[in-house]
Amino acid sequence: MTDANPAPLPPAMHADRGEIALIVGATLLGLAVAAGMLAAGEADREATRLALRATARVSFVYFALAFTAAPLARLRPASWSRWLLRRRRAFGVAFGATMTVHVGCILRLYALYAPERPPMVTATDFLIGVPGLVLVACMTVTSLVAVRRRLADVHWRRLHRVGVWVVWAVFLLCLVDSVGRKETAHPFLGYWALVAVLVVAAALRWAAWRASGPSLPGSGRAVDDPP
Ligand code: HEM
Repeated sequence: MTDANPAPLPPAMHADRGEIALIVGATLLGLAVAAGMLAAGEADREATRLALRATARVSFVYFALAFTAAPLARLRPASWSRWLLRRRRAFGVAFGATMTVHVGCILRLYALYAPERPPMVTATDFLIGVPGLVLVACMTVTSLVAVRRRLADVHWRRLHRVGVWVVWAVFLLCLVDSVGRKETAHPFLGYWALVAVLVVAAALRWAAWRASGPSLPGSGRAVDDPP
């Protein structure tokens, strides 16, 4: 039996149509980029590698938007930053979904190189990528409204606060490791520009944290802690 007059959900616990459209659109974009590259290269090894790199970059954009939404809303209150903050969860979920495409490309490489291990999948990828992926999966699942409802606020916050910084570090390590190891015609655009975005994003969070003042008494969290 359903409640005929259910209490309204608080905004953070309610997914509206715009949010769902954004998640679906952003995820489809990641899929389309990967599919386009695979189709152009007849899904061979090099095309799969390109698709793998491209999905990392598309997901990077979604991650950066989710990561900077709260500090930007705090430091530059305006309609665009409030919009970004409202859509932070959508970008977070789209990030998780696009990372699934990244994993799909890795599995495809394994199939193409079987029974060998694909040479571009390094021990470092496993060491830092796998724990990163586990966290991304946990964060994505717990961002879904139905799951979030069941989690105590304090656990949700802890998971997401630690998780975003771990993912930030995984991106940083992957990019710095890659630019030193791989031949590329565009080290600045392909790698260093993204590293700069990460550094600026971290600086924004730090500045917002400084601007947010003291912690709320007894709550263990900062005044402007995101919902
Ligand atoms: C949160 C988890 C992960 C993040 C943030 C991440 C991030 C990235 C980034 C930024 C790139 C682009 C590097 C480039 O263009 O050269 C990349 C590529 C790649 N990633 Fe991931 N990755 C993750 C998980 C994994 C895992 C678990 C594996 C495999 C075990 C993996 C394997 C690879 C491979 C093989 C490439 C392409 C390397 C090449 O082109 O030579 N990644 N990843």
